[in-house]
Amino acid sequence: MQGDPSLLVGIETSDDAGVYRLSPEIALIQTLDFFTPIVNDPYDFGRIAAANSFSDIYAMGGKPLTAMNIVCFPVKEMDKSVLRSILEGGLDIIYKAGAVMVGGHSVEDPELKYGLSVTGIVHPEHFLTNAGAKPGDLLVLTKPLGTGILATALKGRMLDEKTTTMITELMATLNREAAEVMIEIGVNACTDITGFGLLGHALEMAKASKVGMCIYADKVPIISEAKIFVSMGMVPVGSHLNQKFCSHHLDIAPTIDPLILDLLADAQTSGGLLMSVPENKCDELTLKLLEKKVLAVVVVGEVVRKPVGVIQIR
Ligand code: CO
Ligand code: CO
Ligand code: CO
Repeated sequence: MQGDPSLLVGIETSDDAGVYRLSPEIALIQTLDFFTPIVNDPYDFGRIAAANSFSDIYAMGGKPLTAMNIVCFPVKEMDKSVLRSILEGGLDIIYKAGAVMVGGHSVEDPELKYGLSVTGIVHPEHFLTNAGAKPGDLLVLTKPLGTGILATALKGRMLDEKTTTMITELMATLNREAAEVMIEIGVNACTDITGFGLLGHALEMAKASKVGMCIYADKVPIISEAKIFVSMGMVPVGSHLNQKFCSHHLDIAPTIDPLILDLLADAQTSGGLLMSVPENKCDELTLKLLEKKVLAVVVVGEVVRKPVGVIQIR
C-alpha cells in the first residue's frame, strides 16, 4: 500500500480497478481500458470497447457514473467518419450503462485504438474483489467462451456474417444486469473474464482467495463455432500463452480433451462475470440471472479448500 488508508484497492492485487474511499459511505472505482479494433465495423468496435471498459466496475459491484474517451487515430490515413462511428458506438453503450460522457483525449497514432476511462462508485465496505471466494462456493459464469478464437478467425476473413454478428452482440453486451443481480443476492467474490481467459482469471481468484478450484470442463458454455475452429487447429497464440502461464497450477484429469483447454484459456474481450456464490444462494442467483436474460447462466465449477492456488479440471 502507498500509505494512504483511503486507498482500498491499489495496484498490489490483480484486480483491474482501483478503489478509493471518499467518505464512510462512498468509494470511487476507477478503471481504464483501450485496444485496437477486433471487428471491422467502426460503430460495433466502439460498442465493444466501451462495454469492455465498464466491465471492471461491474465486477466490483459498482455503479458507473462518468466515462472519458481515449482515442489514438491515424488522422492522415483514415476518414474522420470512422472516428465518428466509433465514438457513437461508445456513446450508445455509455447511455445503456446509465453513465455520462464527460470528455476525453485523442492523439494521432498510425494504429487506431479506442477505449474508455470509467469512474464509478461503490460502498467502501461492500465492494467485491477476486479475493473473497470460500470453500463450498459454486462458480457461476455469465457469458459463453470463444470470442478470442472467433475474433482471430474474423481477422483472417474466415468468419461468416451470422457468427460475426453473434460475437459482436456478445461482446457489446454490458455486464450490467448480471452485476445488478449479483449485488441483490450477494456473492463472495467476482472477476470479469478478459485477456487471461477463464483459466487465468479463475487462477487469480483462487490465489487471491487462498483456495483451490475445480472446473467442470464439460459444463463450461462455449460458442459452438469456436469449437469448430479449435478442432481445425486455429488457436490464437494468446490461448497457448495463457495455458503456459497457468500450467504449474493446473491439475488436469486424464480424460480431458486437450482441445477443451484451448477454449478454457481463450482470451476474451468483454467477457462475462465469474461469480463465487455460497451454495445456498446459488439457485436464487441463477434464477434471477435467467429472468434478466443474461447471456449464459452456468455453474462451471466449485471452490475447494485444497490444494490452494490450483485449478483442477474435471
Ligand atoms: Co481491465
Ligand atoms: Co477485469
Ligand atoms: Co487532453
